[in-house]
Amino acid sequence: MKVIVTGGAGFIGSHIVDKLIAKNYQVVVIDSLVTGKKGNLDSAAKFYETDIRDKKAVAKIFSIEKPDLVCHQAAHASVRESTADPQYDADVNILGSLSILQSCVQAKVKKIVFASTGGALYGDADQMPTPETYPTKPICPYGVAKLSVEQYLHYYHKIFKLPYVILRYANVYGPRQDPHGEAGVVAIFSQKMIAGEQPIINGNGEQTRDYVSVKDVVAANIKALESGFINETFNIGTGQETSVNKLFQTMVKIIGKPIKEKYGPAKTGEQKTSALSWDKIKQELNWQPTVDLPAGLAETINSFQ
Ligand SMILES: NC(=O)c1ccc[n+]([C@@H]2O[C@H](COP(=O)([O-])OP(=O)(O)OC[C@H]3O[C@@H](n4cnc5c(N)ncnc54)[C@H](O)[C@@H]3O)[C@@H](O)[C@H]2O)c1
Repeated sequence: MKVIVTGGAGFIGSHIVDKLIAKNYQVVVIDSLVTGKKGNLDSAAKFYETDIRDKKAVAKIFSIEKPDLVCHQAAHASVRESTADPQYDADVNILGSLSILQSCVQAKVKKIVFASTGGALYGDADQMPTPETYPTKPICPYGVAKLSVEQYLHYYHKIFKLPYVILRYANVYGPRQDPHGEAGVVAIFSQKMIAGEQPIINGNGEQTRDYVSVKDVVAANIKALESGFINETFNIGTGQETSVNKLFQTMVKIIGKPIKEKYGPAKTGEQKTSALSWDKIKQELNWQPTVDLPAGLAETINSFQ
């Protein structure tokens, strides 16, 4: 079986590539290296340094490689940057995704798995943990773009019979994490604490997120690629809300240095709460989070050290 992984040189994509190779899949990576790194790439993967917005180049890769499956992780993955430059975000996340979807149809791909987002779609939900049925009303351009692609997937399935699975991730953390990504706070705090610098907590630190280990996210992608389930949307999270203050204290304990909290101004419009229910994927694909936060944070911190 051959799988194209877009964004396979990035944080989450490269871990998916590693797992697929370990499971003897043939893996082809499309990545522009805008945030991804060649060093993340397993040498057993075939690599095309290509921008997903380049329709012709993408179509050519699909016609050469004839993939069975596609795991679409490539994205401009920053909520904050999306608010500063919504056009660029839409260009990569909507138009880039469309060039992948068009090529999937032409190559008659058996399934595409799409990396969407939970927190940025549900916003400050009044139901915690939030289920997939909760109304999606994104309040950042990144969320709008992810939701658009979810709707295009529905369209491509209805009209062109392209099978899909949508995975709405919570805040993913783990080794190779980029400080600029969606759950960048873990990477930022790790790097600052290791270097003996003072991390700054934005606002009062009581804002919460659902931190899910990249290991569990990889397992969910494998289940989504391999299962017979199609045309479904699943949250990938732990269902647990963790405040930035709690995250900070847990990391300080692991690092073992006497670092005190220091607070800076709150980020305007920042979401206050987030936690995703994983009941649906447990029921349908028998996936559940397995890595507890202190253990996952310790592994992440070690990898940065
Ligand atoms: N990290 C999180 O907490 C989180 C949460 C929800 C959803 N997601 C989604 O998961 C996916 C992976 O995110 P990540 O955290 O690994 O981010 P990342 O930035 O590490 O990975 C994204 C990859 O896409 C590549 N890319 C970006 N623009 C491209 C383009 N135009 N053409 C080709 N390649 C391009 C980058 O070079 C990078 O390798 C993204 O779709 C992101 O939106 C991430």
